[in-house]
Amino acid sequence: MISIPGYEVGGILLSEEEIAARVAELGQRITQDYAGEKLLVIGILKGAFVFMSDLIRQIDLDLETDFMAASSYGSGTESSGEVRITKEPGVDLAGRHVLLVEDIVDSGITLKYLKDTYFADRDIRSVKICALLDKPARRKADITPDYKGFTVDDRFIVGYGLDYREHFRQLPHITYLVEK
Ligand code: IMP
Ligand code: MG
Repeated sequence: MISIPGYEVGGILLSEEEIAARVAELGQRITQDYAGEKLLVIGILKGAFVFMSDLIRQIDLDLETDFMAASSYGSGTESSGEVRITKEPGVDLAGRHVLLVEDIVDSGITLKYLKDTYFADRDIRSVKICALLDKPARRKADITPDYKGFTVDDRFIVGYGLDYREHFRQLPHITYLVEK
């Protein structure tokens, strides 16, 4: 098991098999909901890249993919609510059905900003959010993912793309950080 100075990971919260089954269900729902439409799937870097690569292979629609990156300012664990876009999508968004793919919704500040500010007023046909995980305990912004994989308790989650300071992204399951 991987460990880094001061930290290791706990037991398995969601196994590879549980994640795969849920991702397949999400893909089927998205396929039904957007039947006949063309979809632009935008992953929010970096945390979403593992989930997104599995999710798109479960969507039976004509789709394009892109990525963007955002970071929310704050001191310590408190977010100020200010969000900075560090990488913009590389395609024209006008007229598109956009599905934003996120690893986890925590305070909700990042997604609230993206949905209500960044993606507003660009002649976009629709913007929906697909989050693998929802951690409602720490929610500050009023935002609910349109599609979500699982609800998690207020623990620091790692694995399946989610990191602690860039570590543990490669774990195939979802677990949580433990201080050693
Ligand atoms: P927020 O919803 O604006 O607070 O920001 C959510 C972002 O914070 C996610 O996209 C993750 O990158 C990161 N994050 C929040 N909670 C966790 C966690 O438990 N593990 C790893 N990253 C997290
Ligand atoms: Mg993230």
